[in-house]
Amino acid sequence: MNVGIVGIGRYVPENVVTNQDLEKRMDTSDEWIRTRTGIRERRIAGDDINTSHMAYFAAQKAIEDAGIQPEDIDLILTATVTPDQPFPTVSCMIQEQIGAKKAAAMDISAACSGLMYGMVTAKQFIETGVYKYVLVIGAEKLSKITDWEDRSTAVLFGDGAGAVVMGPVTDGRGILSFELGADGSGGKFLYQEKYICMNGREVFKFAVRQMGESALNVIEKAGLSKEDVDFLIPHQANIRIMEAARQRLDLPIEKMSNTVGKYGNTSAASIPISLVEDLEAGRIKDDDIILMVGFGGGLTWGAILMKW
Ligand code: ACO
Repeated sequence: MNVGIVGIGRYVPENVVTNQDLEKRMDTSDEWIRTRTGIRERRIAGDDINTSHMAYFAAQKAIEDAGIQPEDIDLILTATVTPDQPFPTVSCMIQEQIGAKKAAAMDISAACSGLMYGMVTAKQFIETGVYKYVLVIGAEKLSKITDWEDRSTAVLFGDGAGAVVMGPVTDGRGILSFELGADGSGGKFLYQEKYICMNGREVFKFAVRQMGESALNVIEKAGLSKEDVDFLIPHQANIRIMEAARQRLDLPIEKMSNTVGKYGNTSAASIPISLVEDLEAGRIKDDDIILMVGFGGGLTWGAILMKW
């Protein structure tokens, strides 16, 4: 049985914070941020919007898009490093709010690779026939763990949520191959104490190397070649890192998702937000081979190759 995405949804807060807004708050410039990261603006949630609120809106849309009822969902997995509180989990909050009465629920903590970890976990349960529909959410309110006095990190992050409903699919569609990985020895390069702490250069080097390798690995595992890939959705952290992955695959620029400019790095939410926007814009078509690849704190990484 093949397992794929049967519904999608996204939510971003309305409040836009531009690079020019940040220039007024800290010693930075629009030019520095754009040339180093590709980011022009990001969405920042107000005090009345927490991670679970964004997760809820994205989840509602994904369930509607899938054309199923909340009672049909067997498991809810929310990838987040910014839950409302350690417990109850965001997944349990969503379970109650959407009325997914029979669903089990737990959160997944794999930083920016979280959605990849969630989707691969969902695939195992569906493939074995244990569950039919799994709701996988990536939701982050990174602004609450951002040190707004630290220009080296504050300019990078944004808030938002994306969700996918996973279930059985036919006609050779769905996940063709995947890879998950971790290297705990790199944990010191990206972690949270009170706020996000990061060695930008080390994370940059790791990301460029790992995104390219994981992308090529999943292509090989599926018995395909890089010419077969129609569209790339890299984790939206930094345009230079994304560009390195694109060039490794020899893909033209229009074959890569690029939402980092308007949302910044939304961690586990970045890939599903991009997926929704690329589908809505018609950049992904039926039967396209799409490659999603993420990396993040842990250090962790994950890649999924799927036929849409
Ligand atoms: N505005 C202006 N100047 C700045 C800013 C800023 N916002 N931030 C840093 N600078 C300065 C630095 O102080 C430094 O000045 P100096 O040379 O006088 O010391 C200079 O700019 C260059 O800094 P670098 O760190 O060398 O800049 P670099 O080219 O490496 O870019 C960046 C920094 C954008 C952070 C890059 O390293 C990067 O993108 N790394 C990966 C980060 C990432 O993807 N993190 C997300 C991980 S996913 C997750 O799990 C959350």
